Order: sequence, then structure tokens, then C-alpha cells
Amino acid sequence: MGSLLEIKNLTIRFGSKVAVDDLSLRIGQAQVLGLVGESGSGKSVTALAVLRLLDAARVEGAIRFDGTNLLALGPEAMRKLRGRDIAMIFQEPMTALNPVMCVGEQIAEAVRAHNPGRSRSEVRDSVLQAMESVAIPDPARRYRDYPHQFSGGQRQRIMIAMAIANRPRLLIADEPTTALDVTVQKQILELLADLRERFGLTMLFISHDLAVVSQVADRVAVMRHGLLLEEGPREAVFHKPVHSYTKALMGAVPTMSTDIARPLAVVEKARESAVLPLRECSPGHWVRSTA
Ligand SMILES: Nc1ncnc2c1ncn2[C@@H]1O[C@H](COP(=O)(O)OP(=O)(O)O)[C@@H](O)[C@H]1O
Ligand SMILES: [Mg+2]
Repeated sequence: MGSLLEIKNLTIRFGSKVAVDDLSLRIGQAQVLGLVGESGSGKSVTALAVLRLLDAARVEGAIRFDGTNLLALGPEAMRKLRGRDIAMIFQEPMTALNPVMCVGEQIAEAVRAHNPGRSRSEVRDSVLQAMESVAIPDPARRYRDYPHQFSGGQRQRIMIAMAIANRPRLLIADEPTTALDVTVQKQILELLADLRERFGLTMLFISHDLAVVSQVADRVAVMRHGLLLEEGPREAVFHKPVHSYTKALMGAVPTMSTDIARPLAVVEKARESAVLPLRECSPGHWVRSTA
């Protein structure tokens, strides 16, 4: 199966600091790749590089979307693609939403930006449809409500509605459930799984939490300090992790959000293995050697 997104030898530098180091990843059509790693490992900058939203960084390598190298696209072509073919949702819906604009109009803006020819009523229909597909009850009545009138989970649904309103082919979700409590988190993960089925969405799903990632991803990639350490099918990475860092992430699962530093400190010595190449330890399961 062809890859919809192919990241090849991506290196991202902020001044002399290397935030992402020679990263290669692919996501097949209608597949979900989970990208996991502790804070600062380079997950978000990778996502932002795909959308070409990193002004301050030096970005090298190639990012091919359906065969087109996004890093070689002009600003106008990129602007058209962003939000239409590739959409993104972020961790904190309250900061991404405009607090003084009703949610229906915010989704409508996203629709209009890429469909200037649509009439008012067509735009409104698209908005209501998007709100319906993320299971906001009674969308016609909620259209005029403001973000603060929704719960945290519902606000994340609104963000997702905005992201999928133009039926993107690739959805990038950066810590989409991290700010939510556990029950709501589960509902949002179910919603994303459901949308993926219905719309054949391809997804890059980013989280610091391996347990969350393993609920939605077909393949899992583990990063640390800008380096890809392990990548493979969900079952293999989750149940038979090979890299000591992935094992530490596994061990950290129950306490991940409360105490991230302690279990990870144990594998600090693994850092010096970082420059060794990736090897295929079982079919499709890659790991950076620690020997
Ligand atoms: N605008 C920026 N300027 C300088 N350094 C940055 C900038 N954005 C991110 N970084 C650095 O890049 C590294 C990776 O950051 P990030 O991708 O946000 O990590 P993650 O999302 O995995 O927590 C971090 O060391 C961070 O400090
Ligand atoms: Mg991040």
C-alpha cells in the first residue's frame, strides 16, 4: 500500500540545537501512526514541519504528501493545502478557539477559507454536518453558542469538527486528549476511531502516553531527544518492546502523567547508543541498536 505521508531524513534545527535528527517515517493510506515520547523529544516540531509552520527553524530532508514534497512547495500552494488536505488538532481547545466568536461561525470560517464559492446556507449545512459527525447534540441550537458554554470534551469535539469540516486526507492530532480527564479522553479516542472508519482518515497521532497511542495507532514510533528509537506494528512495540527506552515508557504507563521523570532517568545511559543505526529486529519492527 502506498504511503500518504512520507517523512524522509528530516532534520530540524533551532540555531545549533538539533530538535529532530534524521527522522524517517511513513504513514500508509487510512493508517494511524502513533508518535510517542517524553516532552521535548521533537514530536510537535515534526507535526509543525509537515504543515510548514516552523518559521524559526532550519528544516532539511523531504516531507512527501501523496508524492509532493511539501518542503519544496511555495507559500500559496501550502496555504491551500493546509486545513483542506491536511488538518491539525491541538492539545488545548480553549486556546485554539476564539473565545468571542460563536463556535458555528468558527467552523464556518474554516469551511469558507477553502470553499469561497459556497453560499451561506451551503456553508451552514457543512458546519451542522461537521458538528453532527463529532456528536455535538442539537447542532442547530448550539451553532450560536460560545466556547465557554461547552465542556472541555465538547470543545475538543468542536476543534475536531473544524479540522474535519473540509474532509482532509491527513489529520494530525497533537496530544488531543492530554488536557482531558480520563473518561472524556476515552470518548475522544472513540470519536477519532469512528471518524477514521467513516472518512478513511489517515492520522498522525501524537502523545507522550504510550497507553493512549496504543489504543488508536496501527503502528507506533518512539522518539527521544529528536531521534527515532523504535518503530513498528502496535502489538510488537506495545507488547514486545525492544529498546530500553520503550520498555521504560511501558513501565511508566500507570504513572506517566504524574511522574514522568523518575522511570525515564533509569535509561539515561542509553543516550550514547543514539548514533547507532536502526535495524529490523522482526519484520517491520525497527529499533535503534543499544549494543
Ligand atoms: N520555536 C522554538 N525555538 C527553539 N527551540 C524550540 C522551538 N520549538 C521547539 N523547540 C525545541 O525543540 C525540541 C522539541 O520540541 P517539541 O517538538 O515541542 O517536543 P515535544 O512535542 O516532543 O514535547 C525541544 O527541545 C524544544 O525546546
Ligand atoms: Mg508537543
